[in-house]
Amino acid sequence: MRVDSEYAIETQDLTKIYHARWSGGEVRAIDGVSLRVPKGTIFGLLGPNGAGKTTFVKTLLSAVRQTHGSALIFGRDASDPEARRPIGYLPENHRFPTYFTGAGMLDFYASLSGVSASRRKKLIPEHLELVGLSQWGAMRIGKYSKGMLQRLGLAQALIHSPSMLILDEPTDGVDPVGRREIRELLVRCESQGVTIFVNSHLLAEIETLCREIAILHKGKVALTGKMHDLTAGKGYRLTVTKPSDALTEELRAKATSMAARDGLIDFQFPSRELVNTAVDLLRAQQCEIESLAPTTSTLEEVFVRTVEKK
Ligand SMILES: Nc1ncnc2c1ncn2[C@@H]1O[C@H](COP(=O)(O)OP(=O)(O)OP(=O)(O)O)[C@@H](O)[C@H]1O
Ligand SMILES: [Mg+2]
Repeated sequence: MRVDSEYAIETQDLTKIYHARWSGGEVRAIDGVSLRVPKGTIFGLLGPNGAGKTTFVKTLLSAVRQTHGSALIFGRDASDPEARRPIGYLPENHRFPTYFTGAGMLDFYASLSGVSASRRKKLIPEHLELVGLSQWGAMRIGKYSKGMLQRLGLAQALIHSPSMLILDEPTDGVDPVGRREIRELLVRCESQGVTIFVNSHLLAEIETLCREIAILHKGKVALTGKMHDLTAGKGYRLTVTKPSDALTEELRAKATSMAARDGLIDFQFPSRELVNTAVDLLRAQQCEIESLAPTTSTLEEVFVRTVEKK
């Protein structure tokens, strides 16, 4: 058994086939998924509805048993209950018993994780505070809003100081301010060395949060990589006040595209060298530069490209 892995999660050919009785057929919810999630990073698993994200997480946590393939958590076989001990988990569409108060629910789940009564007494108010629910700890969770339930779920996942958080759609139903608070909390956890694995289809959120991603599509990994590389520059966009016709022509010859609007011209240059040459030529003629910026792909563009071509 390997317990010294540099990866928090390592799967090999992980496959789950559900036998769907209502249709008589089988559903390959995940199909040969081999993924490596480095320790201490924020990793996002993206994919359209039904891509297999939740099934992947449930298989990791042995909530469903894989049809074949293997999964390691911090180098330990995922089916070993000890492998799950360092994980904090926020399920998708969780249903905590509504008769609990927020504090009572945290107490119950922390006790299931083996946190002592004296530690729980200290940790519960700390964690309610962490997720912005201090005022609501004594209220029954049947009265919580969806966003409050998500925050409480996050506190539940964090309360036993896990080494890895597995979060299935953590900001589902949370308002924009709450989402930002959750993102900030997750980045703080990352800075303390916690690995964070997030399932989501909220691309903007994943783009600001995750260092690495994988895109799951129809149960298979369609793309994986570092966020920075996937959205890396495709060139430079230079916007200038319209130069002389001769210079416009000269720049057009070096640019990959040119578009005129409201007395301004946008040039797209493929390289740093060419955009620098363009700037030199423009400044030599005292032309005004409005803006210069690297052009990047948004994660949405990467996602749509990946999912559409399959
Ligand atoms: N218990 C089950 N029995 C049969 N099929 C299932 C079961 N659970 C999931 N599936 C099917 O497996 C596929 C993957 O579902 P899964 O819930 O993993 O997707 P997801 O990527 O999490 O989707 P979403 O973004 O909507 O949460 C879907 O086709 C789904 O219908
Ligand atoms: Mg899901």
